[in-house]
Amino acid sequence: MRIDLLTIFPDMFRGPFDESIVKRAVEGGLVSINLHDIRRWAEDRHKTVDDYPYGGGPGMVMKPDVVFAATESVLELAPQREPVILLTPAGRRLTHEIVVELAAKERLVLICGRYEGFDARVHEHLATDEISIGDFVLSGGELAAMALVDAVVRHIPGALGSPQSTVEESFAEGLLEAPHYTRPPEFRGWPVPEVLVSGNHGEVAKWRRLQNILLTARRRPELLASLELTAEEGEWLALQLGEQ
Ligand code: ADE
Repeated sequence: MRIDLLTIFPDMFRGPFDESIVKRAVEGGLVSINLHDIRRWAEDRHKTVDDYPYGGGPGMVMKPDVVFAATESVLELAPQREPVILLTPAGRRLTHEIVVELAAKERLVLICGRYEGFDARVHEHLATDEISIGDFVLSGGELAAMALVDAVVRHIPGALGSPQSTVEESFAEGLLEAPHYTRPPEFRGWPVPEVLVSGNHGEVAKWRRLQNILLTARRRPELLASLELTAEEGEWLALQLGEQ
């Protein structure tokens, strides 16, 4: 996969992308991450990328001429021209399903906004998709792009040590993920659940699924609504929730 990132703060990406899974994926040739400083395409002496909003109001708006020039020039660097994704709080909210959808693409072009946002013509005529990482406003799209890239890279085959990891992790089944334990078997008087040390894989899988269901019911009950529980799971859950 090829990822092109357009930003006025390319240095912000160096730390997060130089560690761990993303770094390994880049080094292993699974993904190339190409940072482009939007300012390079500013034409005036001061390298201006923003301007006052028409109609007044607070903040500045990213100039369409600079953002178009930067993006169109970056698009020329590889044959695939879609998707061009704007990171903006007004985008569709990022989910596991969208991450999986993006991980299947050969190329992603991500544009990070700053200031009050982009000139509307960037939304209308340049972007093919707009993504938000949550219902809150960041100072810019950079941190959102980092989160998106990290989540997507995990789903590129070979990026994780074990392919099972993305299958079993939170949200893959529409559920939050069960608690994990490691040694010691007892810590400050808190024991590891018996079943996990039993060596019975069938029982462990069953226990994990029930724990996933319980955690989801407690924290994110709206996620359970779209899920089919067996009668046995439903009864067990009702019992647990009744006991709270
Ligand atoms: N830019 C500013 N806030 C954002 C958000 N929540 N998601 C994506 N991009 C953003």
